[in-house]
Amino acid sequence: MSQETDGLSYPKDQIKVLLLEGIHPKAVENFNQNGFHNIETYDVALSEAELLDKMEDVQLIGIRSKTHITEKVIKKASKLKAIGCFCIGTNQVDLKAATLDGITVFNSPYSNTRSVAELVIAESIMLMRRIPLRDKEAHKGVWLKDAKESYEVRGKKIGIVGYGHIGSQVSVLAENMGFDVFYYDIEPKLPMGNATRVDSLKQLLEISDIITLHVPATPDTHMMIGKEELAQMKEKSFLLNLARGSVVDINALKEAVDSGHIAGAGIDVYPEEPESKGEKFSSELQNLPNVILTPHIGGSTLEAQYNIGLDVSTKLIKLIDNGTTVDSHTVPSLNLPVQKDAHRILHIHENKPGVLSEINSCLSDMDINILGQYLKTNEYIGYVVLDIDKDYNDRVLEKLSKVKHTIKTRILY
Ligand code: NAI
Repeated sequence: MSQETDGLSYPKDQIKVLLLEGIHPKAVENFNQNGFHNIETYDVALSEAELLDKMEDVQLIGIRSKTHITEKVIKKASKLKAIGCFCIGTNQVDLKAATLDGITVFNSPYSNTRSVAELVIAESIMLMRRIPLRDKEAHKGVWLKDAKESYEVRGKKIGIVGYGHIGSQVSVLAENMGFDVFYYDIEPKLPMGNATRVDSLKQLLEISDIITLHVPATPDTHMMIGKEELAQMKEKSFLLNLARGSVVDINALKEAVDSGHIAGAGIDVYPEEPESKGEKFSSELQNLPNVILTPHIGGSTLEAQYNIGLDVSTKLIKLIDNGTTVDSHTVPSLNLPVQKDAHRILHIHENKPGVLSEINSCLSDMDINILGQYLKTNEYIGYVVLDIDKDYNDRVLEKLSKVKHTIKTRILY
């Protein structure tokens, strides 16, 4: 249980921020501009042992995918308020341990949407012009100058599976390139521009010249594109998978390319991927004609890194400044207004019956006027935010920290 009771909001200069794995400098710039200057940065990931050594006074930590924040690290980090994952996923953090300790965990799932969408358009053109083949031959000194099986994308039908952040961006770019855009989604998503929604995956597969996948990895999308679905695709059509490796049956795709039914594919994600850069990679799809293989770099651009740096640092700053936890994976998500003429108490507690009434009676015993109250719970914990009259008893935080099942309390002046 931690608390701050110095009569002032905790001075930002004393908030220790640890940023690992070469997080984009935009994050440091953003922290500095918002008054945080106690920042330590590393270009590499830290091991569990190194983290255990460092975490005692760290209040905010920023990591990418290689630093593992284990339960042991969380237990050691008694002052830790939040973990910022400056990347897409949060698997590297023990989310349950973080939840039980009232530590907010943020990530940045949508900062690289545009990067993926642009690559989809680029690969569509490359495949329809059979550039992979001609490129390979030109490097070998063979002059394949002809128009054989080369097409423009204009007027072709692109079928987008999954019309979320990336799928809908692809829709906008594809329409501007002259594609006729069709899409299928399990949710009733509204079309962008002149795109047309279809009612089934089968229908989309049957009409599209190129299919591009933008669904998440779920039990429902596991091997969503297998032998049967590939057979439903138009003769000599193309397939792009820049979503997740589990979505496509790679062996079935190899057979479909070998037979010529599928005229080309662009694959960025695989059922099994090497852990790190430089490791050996092998796939059944290697050396197939007109197949572009990329090492899961759909979202890897400098612009995306910049956006992630800004997005996650902003979420951490807002949490410290006013308690907002929107998009948190652990502490319940609350979007809080700026406090006006009030002090703000943040109270995180185990989700047990009676805590809220104990908090309220504690405040009424001290004759404290509540101006605003916000509450959200999840399976394990509750997050209550109380805006109270500035004319208050300064022992309130001490009292609230003694409420049974309290995990963390903090006050913003
Ligand atoms: P999102 O969550 O915004 O959109 C996913 C869409 O798929 C939603 O509209 C959802 O309703 C739909 N969907 C879910 N199950 C479906 C099903 N069975 N059939 C049809 N539609 C279904 O996700 P976002 O950001 O657009 O990402 C899409 C995929 O791209 C994810 O798998 C993500 O991991 C991947 N990705 C890959 C990157 C790369 O480097 N290659 C970078 C970023 C994301």
